[in-house]
Amino acid sequence: MAETFDLLLRGGTLVTHNGIGLGDVGVRDGRTAAIGDLAGADADQVVEAQGLHILPGVIDTQVHFREPGNAQKEDLEAGSRGAVLGGVTAVFEMPNTAPLTTNPEALADKLARARGRMWCEHAFYMGGTGENAEQLAELERLPGCCGVKIFMGSSTGNLLTEDDATLRRILGAIRRRCAVHAEDEPRLKERQHLAVEAADPAAHPLWRDPETALRASKRLIAIARETGARVHVLHITTAEEIRFLAQHKDIASVEVTPQHLTLAAPDCYTDMGSRAQMNPPIRDVSHRDGLWWGLDQGVVDVIGSDHAPHTLAEKAQTYPASPSGMPGVQTLLPIMLDHTAAGRLSLLRLMDLTSAGPARLFGIAGKGRIAVGYDGDFTLVDLQAKRRILDQDMANLSGWTPFHNREVTGWPMATIIRGRIVMREGDLAAKADGRPLRFGETLPRA
Ligand code: DOR
Repeated sequence: MAETFDLLLRGGTLVTHNGIGLGDVGVRDGRTAAIGDLAGADADQVVEAQGLHILPGVIDTQVHFREPGNAQKEDLEAGSRGAVLGGVTAVFEMPNTAPLTTNPEALADKLARARGRMWCEHAFYMGGTGENAEQLAELERLPGCCGVKIFMGSSTGNLLTEDDATLRRILGAIRRRCAVHAEDEPRLKERQHLAVEAADPAAHPLWRDPETALRASKRLIAIARETGARVHVLHITTAEEIRFLAQHKDIASVEVTPQHLTLAAPDCYTDMGSRAQMNPPIRDVSHRDGLWWGLDQGVVDVIGSDHAPHTLAEKAQTYPASPSGMPGVQTLLPIMLDHTAAGRLSLLRLMDLTSAGPARLFGIAGKGRIAVGYDGDFTLVDLQAKRRILDQDMANLSGWTPFHNREVTGWPMATIIRGRIVMREGDLAAKADGRPLRFGETLPRA
């Protein structure tokens, strides 16, 4: 009798641990059940994937969805809708909401809000502070939590760990990899007058200069060594940090964003003004080249979007009152596929950065690869499709993208989560059914 599946992806080009090649995938009960030539198989639902590449579901380990507290900018429903429209199957959401996610109640509230409203799989970071440092070892293990996040420099919201003593308490307490925004707060304060005097977002990389970032990364690594912690250094922006962190790969993992790999000063500020303003800043081409060097040499572990919408009215305030951050979850994959089309990285390397890398670093259970027994999460892409990224096509509640009007080659055509087609050619499933991610290290014992 023919083998039967719930879902069969037929005739696509699979991007797996075996390399890239033609093949079918069968999904049963939400999990990948067979890979290979499944010509004789039956299925309730068949996706003809000829001409498409099938990637493991893309995981974005840094998004700010603003709920609760700032739903005028973004919320869990719209943010995750943008994710699946962009081929993203899972997100890690950041704790600088209002209230901050720094206790079990705030995490439970986010998980409750996500149920039935989030389109993709999700987990939430716990914010680390001086107040909850000693509780973090417990907090980071709560179901639905992807780990602890700390801000060493002020950004949006008031989550801040600026001194070494507090950093030491947090890194000494936790067991999981700690995600860190590394900018040196004392130096930011010293130099803030530069931003105020300039009153121009072009001064953003001058105020928050490369030394501000490098200094924080060095303090972080020193304390991580002292305490035996593992750290995930978010959105690296300088050539110097990449070279520095390359010497500490045993304890440090590295994220870069599509925008830091794509945009560059001064043009981005001339063209977009405060829309190009984010923390840490978009810098000049020499730093962008440094990030590409790190990506090419394997120093970079993951691509995260740092999706951080602010409304255009908020952005219209005079710099530096204009808030820092830009949307990105929906454009992460199109922008990176375009770099792939231009020959800047291979499709296998991209898969490593957006699926295998997040799963490896954070120990996500059952995700991150196309393999029997893993969840049936897939991102189907057309590598040849030429499309234009437009503000009006963005799901984010702020209604814009820093890549407005950019033509890209390569586009997500379908997003499949646990064998369920959540997005196909821009159309969404009837209802949202994203679930909390599970993590190997914190799974309860039987
Ligand atoms: O530019 C940024 N915006 N960087 C951050 O670290 C936070 C983010 C936000 O939440 O707006």
